[in-house]
Amino acid sequence: MKILFATPELAPWMKSGGLGEISWSLPAALHEAGLDVRILAPAYAPLLAAFPDARPVAEFAHTGGNLMPARVLEAKADNGVPLLLVDCPGYYVRAGNAYQDGEGNDFADNHLRFGLLSRIAALLASDASPLRWRPDILHCNDWPCGLAPAYLHFLEGRTAATVMSIHNLAFQGIFQAETLDALGLPAAAFAIDGVEYWSKLSFMKAGLHYAQRITTVSPRYAEEIQAEEFGYGFAGLLRWRKNDLTGILNGIDMRAWDPATDAYLSRRYEFAHLKGKEANKTALRQRLGLAQEPSCPLLGAVSRITHQKGLDLLADIGEELAAMPAQLALLGTGDKRLEAALVALAGRHPERFSVTLGYDEGLAHQIEAGADIFLMPSRFEPCGLNQMYSLRYGTPPVVRATGGLSDTVVDCNEATLADGTANGFAFADATAQALLDAIRRAVAAWHDKTLWRKLQRNGMLVDFGWARAAEAYKGIYASLSKQKKAAGTPRQVRRDRTDSGRVQLPR
Ligand code: ADP
Ligand code: GLC
Repeated sequence: MKILFATPELAPWMKSGGLGEISWSLPAALHEAGLDVRILAPAYAPLLAAFPDARPVAEFAHTGGNLMPARVLEAKADNGVPLLLVDCPGYYVRAGNAYQDGEGNDFADNHLRFGLLSRIAALLASDASPLRWRPDILHCNDWPCGLAPAYLHFLEGRTAATVMSIHNLAFQGIFQAETLDALGLPAAAFAIDGVEYWSKLSFMKAGLHYAQRITTVSPRYAEEIQAEEFGYGFAGLLRWRKNDLTGILNGIDMRAWDPATDAYLSRRYEFAHLKGKEANKTALRQRLGLAQEPSCPLLGAVSRITHQKGLDLLADIGEELAAMPAQLALLGTGDKRLEAALVALAGRHPERFSVTLGYDEGLAHQIEAGADIFLMPSRFEPCGLNQMYSLRYGTPPVVRATGGLSDTVVDCNEATLADGTANGFAFADATAQALLDAIRRAVAAWHDKTLWRKLQRNGMLVDFGWARAAEAYKGIYASLSKQKKAAGTPRQVRRDRTDSGRVQLPR
């Protein structure tokens, strides 16, 4: 089975969160599971720099609407997975991250930038592709790829079956209705049964409507998004499509996140030798200028500083934490006002709290290893990766019971301690008080060394590898490709192909 995995982010070159990591490790796992998978991503500057020998394999002089022309470059990642890079410097070579400039403003032409990514994905997954390699399945990730199933719907000839994966339904790719033309979509697409969303155009809606299957990144989130609170306007559509919707828990990169081999750590460790973890705490405190207080637990957090992640709740209980006492090592970036509140808190308690603003891979690993307790008070969390890293690093997490956090963290109580599943602390309400209560429970447990070791053990021994998820995706791909075969003969091809292999597309 041949899979084209389309994504707007690809770690380590372009990553603003979990999607970048998943886009690297899931295709790798599918490749290991024997599938012929290729990653399609924009040729951002760091990717062009990392693969200077990438060679052009296709050229699209006309991509439709006002979309810029583009080439497709092919390279091979060192794990053996081929990369197809959409080369269009006018769209993708800029300062900033995948979506925003250096000041945190969305690029004004994001509809075109990700319209092109979606368009090229669709072309490569159809008879319009000049490549010999033709996918059976086009796997689209989050709103930036959401138009691909819509484009495919309106392309003639044989097309791949489509899977749309939701990593975060709060980001929906909503643009003015007038962008329809510029994106090269026919007027017929602008309908309730199409890309239209409250009189605007939504890339996410397009994906959720036109894709044959929908997945999201945890079973609990798959349930939650069918209710209004987490459905962000799509609950009705998702309920209507519930038979096509599956929640598959993400895995983690077990090689990159392994305390026994992690090169960012000052001492490596495993469950049988947890002394090494203590050395990491000492080093972390030293690096961050925190007091070395043996009887004071160190709380850690690595996160986008946003409303989603509930860090405002943490800011609200700063004084109570200082008095507990507990220390805090926080790394993140995001909302400027919230950043300022957290920095002010650290300023009031320099020996207890450290807030590092910015993106720092090494420090993220050191916090996972050096902290005693990890915090994720997310209001919603489609999957979440850090709680799995923290479990693996022997740093029991305190989480709000939502989405993937619910599916991975088992609250510590008598029953879960007895059956050996307890691995952290979960609270229900998104309030500062509920977070504080859960942290108090965790700190009390931390003072009981025997109990704490049990929790650490239960977390460290869970297998969060990708094999299980890869099998689940494989099952979905297989069922789609069976359906496709059963559907019979392809639709008639209507397009002009120039002899250079370039494709002239009907508008
Ligand atoms: P989301 O994608 O919603 O931000 P995830 O938990 O899925 O949340 O993934 C976040 C990833 O990004 C984790 O690997 C986390 O360690 C990393 N990360 C987030 N913020 C930072 C930061 N400031 N520095 C380094 N890594 C970060
Ligand atoms: C999104 C979600 C996060 C998830 C990640 C990868 O960024 O916010 O919960 O882990 O995607 O699927």
